[in-house]
Amino acid sequence: MQAGFLRVCLVVVAAIVNHPLLFPRENTTLQESDKEIIQKLKKHEENLKIEQLRLEQEIARRDAEINMILEGKEENKLPWDFWSTISMVIFLLIEIWRQDFQDGHLQEPNNEEDDMSLWGNIFQAVSLPNKTALATFYERVIRSTTNDAARTREFVEGFADDLLEALRSVCNRDADMEVEDSVGVGSMYENWRVNKPLVCDLLVPFTPPEPYRFQSEIWGSANSSPEDKQGYGKIKVCRPGEEATGCICDKTKLGEDMLCLLHSKNNETKLNSEMEVLLCSKNTQNLDTDQVMKWFQIAVTKAWNKISHKYEFDVTFSHLDAPGALKIKFRSGKFITLNLTPVVQYEDSDAYFISHFPNSGLPNDFSSGTYWLLSFAVYERRFLTEMAKRLPENSCHLSCLQILTFLHQKQSALTGQSGLTNYHLKTALLHLLLARPALDWSFEKLDARLREILKYLEKSLHEKKLYHFMIGNGSLPASICLPETFLVAEPLNLFRQFVLHRSIYKKTMDSFYEMLKNASVLINEYTLHNRFEPYGIAV
Ligand SMILES: *[C@@H]1O[C@H](CO)[C@@H](O)[C@H](O)[C@H]1NC(C)=O
Ligand SMILES: *[C@@H]1O[C@H](CO)[C@@H](O)[C@H](O)[C@H]1NC(C)=O
Ligand SMILES: *[C@@H]1O[C@H](CO)[C@@H](O)[C@H](O)[C@H]1NC(C)=O
Ligand SMILES: *[C@@H]1O[C@H](CO)[C@@H](O)[C@H](O)[C@H]1NC(C)=O
Ligand SMILES: *[C@@H]1O[C@H](CO)[C@@H](O)[C@H](O)[C@H]1NC(C)=O
Repeated sequence: MQAGFLRVCLVVVAAIVNHPLLFPRENTTLQESDKEIIQKLKKHEENLKIEQLRLEQEIARRDAEINMILEGKEENKLPWDFWSTISMVIFLLIEIWRQDFQDGHLQEPNNEEDDMSLWGNIFQAVSLPNKTALATFYERVIRSTTNDAARTREFVEGFADDLLEALRSVCNRDADMEVEDSVGVGSMYENWRVNKPLVCDLLVPFTPPEPYRFQSEIWGSANSSPEDKQGYGKIKVCRPGEEATGCICDKTKLGEDMLCLLHSKNNETKLNSEMEVLLCSKNTQNLDTDQVMKWFQIAVTKAWNKISHKYEFDVTFSHLDAPGALKIKFRSGKFITLNLTPVVQYEDSDAYFISHFPNSGLPNDFSSGTYWLLSFAVYERRFLTEMAKRLPENSCHLSCLQILTFLHQKQSALTGQSGLTNYHLKTALLHLLLARPALDWSFEKLDARLREILKYLEKSLHEKKLYHFMIGNGSLPASICLPETFLVAEPLNLFRQFVLHRSIYKKTMDSFYEMLKNASVLINEYTLHNRFEPYGIAV
């Protein structure tokens, strides 16, 4: 009996000796390398070793005694096994407890895994309507919403041209910006816009008056911008004297009595101050998004005043926190909306620095201050146009995106804006387009492709990783003509905000899964609702 008890003590002591950190004192953590603490522990360990030795001797002595007693009594074997078993069990328990203790400690800082197990892979349980039902829904609801898209585009483009022409004529030629022709981008021009009102997004590139020049600098270049400004850039207004390739009067010493006609001192200072105050961040030469917005709104207002007599409708700003969010109101009560957004071209490319993203959808909201978001909208449109040529004539890739946008929009209306945007949906589609042979995108496979995009999105959300399609993608087709700078750039994770903002992440996950749950019901309801009104408006 006593020997057995001693054996148990021995096991406990042995466990402690072998894992001196089993019972950390108060705040002693594994990382702590305090000399004092280590010394204390060593001393503790030695004491325990001595204790262990003493106990072992004691046990040996007792064992000998017991063996002698047992010689005559064979039936006494059982307690031996019993005490051995107890020792074993206690040893195992201590081991298990120790592991738990350590794991608990190590896992505390990152409880990301919780998120995973919390939501699990619910996707399997979601049932989308069958193929026929989806096709019917598409025909009745989506197509009828967008049947006047082409006409709307045409009208808006004509109006924008006229407005910009007027804008040029009201501008002060010396001090004001030069405005180029607009470029249509986004869902309206990529043919997947589904939500009413049908908004046309037009980029309006502008340049400074001669002899000024914009010099842009993207993230990751010399004057390194903060980490979270990946995807953004700064635009500097270069004065004539600062240009490497400026007027000859900079490089050649003209005689005392000679004056460069372009850069007579007086005119220069006058221009400088005027333009910089107008467009730049205070006391800098960097273009400021808000200043540019104000300038543009004023210019657009002047331009409209000049041509308004020609038109039978009213034009107003539909909201003032975008540079040119315009609403055209007809006498009939109908209206059309368009976004004119001033942009600055990046070097010689089709990438544009954009001051504000109307109905945004890009990474972390929008440009601000002197940081301008770089938009690849023109490249994206080009990529989709190219893909359309390769895919079957009645391909379903845009239909998938439309259905997805429709569902997402309805869900946002129910549960509010989440961290997921239309731009993310489009990015997912872009990633998947080349992952399958062209024939897999025929209209008959609409349901399979839709399911696939949803799965891809789910996976991306779980991993908090969805890479920008253009930035840092070395395997883009060469026909897209993306500048080398972007091909070799560090990939940009559009979901990086989810890593930092757990509440946004949770809301996004919840609303994504609710969207999946509701999808079937929603699609069936809208299909039924639109049965007798093929040209009805489904919003
Ligand atoms: C343990 O550490 C925490 C902070 O790490 C400190 O607030 C606390 O007072 C410490 N407790 C003891 C007993 O040292
Ligand atoms: C598809 O679903 C609709 C209604 O949801 C049903 O009426 C139809 O029979 C289904 N078709 C097939 C082939 O399962
Ligand atoms: C400089 O300004 C004067 C008067 O303001 C004007 O006559 C002259 O043409 C200007 N020079 C240039 C190069 O713009
Ligand atoms: C890069 O582009 C290809 C298409 O050329 C696409 O399939 C792929 O998903 C993209 N990869 C990344 C990481 O963006
Ligand atoms: C979507 O689901 C939520 C609850 O999960 C419900 O309250 C809501 O009414 C549903 N919407 C539709 C259109 O079915």
